Amino acid sequence: MQDITIRHMDFGFPEELDPIVIPGQPEESYRALGLSLLLPFLEPYLIRTMKEARKHIQAPDLAAELARFSGQEGQHYKQHIRFNDTFRSRFDRLPEFEEKLEADYQRFTETKSLRFNLAYAEGFEALTTAFAWTAFEEGRDSEMHPAARDLFAWHLIEELEHRTVAFDVYNDVCGGYAYRLAVGVFAQWHMGSWIVRVARYMLESDPRMREEFGGAAGRRERERAARKRGRRIIPRILKTYSPWYTPHALPFTEEMRQMAATFSEAAVRRS
Ligand SMILES: [Fe+2]
Ligand SMILES: [Fe+2]
Repeated sequence: MQDITIRHMDFGFPEELDPIVIPGQPEESYRALGLSLLLPFLEPYLIRTMKEARKHIQAPDLAAELARFSGQEGQHYKQHIRFNDTFRSRFDRLPEFEEKLEADYQRFTETKSLRFNLAYAEGFEALTTAFAWTAFEEGRDSEMHPAARDLFAWHLIEELEHRTVAFDVYNDVCGGYAYRLAVGVFAQWHMGSWIVRVARYMLESDPRMREEFGGAAGRRERERAARKRGRRIIPRILKTYSPWYTPHALPFTEEMRQMAATFSEAAVRRS
């Protein structure tokens, strides 16, 4: 079984951060911030879902893993809130987007089946696992501002540590490949389209887009290059759609182990 360590971090975020966290890449920067803004709503919803699932778990050890999964997710969104506070005052309309998202997640908890909510959770977890693997292979995050880079790297390594939990809980409590796939794809669309809308709003609010970054023409050119880079993740995502996909088959490499150890060292508390 993979170690799932709950690390309490104390990242030294600056009081105000330039939201263009990847120099020269405003579109990718704002998408990263969009993801960060999603997490304080998504991750509490995952924790609520797991709390409900806990009552139905049969497999030995899975309840303990579920508790550690929720322990990690609880730390993730708290740190993302701190990070988001470094830039959110620049964008007045963020609460509008956030209220809609929170209403969706509350509605899912209140009106959807546990099976739906668990399949949604695995849709997110499969995507972050694919994303984390690609990020490890490419090492591109090193261009990011160190405050954002450390936050995302810590988050991704812990996503890899608990990559099997939502998958196992779904299979233990309800199961079913076609349903998991259908809801998982819906989940990825639901999260992705929110991130794209929020990112577009922030991007269009930034006057530098016209003044420094070449307006619409500059944007088109950078987006073309970003799409080209982004294509590398597609095969990894497609693998998660296979009926034979299991996150258990993905090894936790030596490089990942080293990064996990570095964050364990840096943690103010861990369990
Ligand atoms: Fe997380
Ligand atoms: Fe996760």
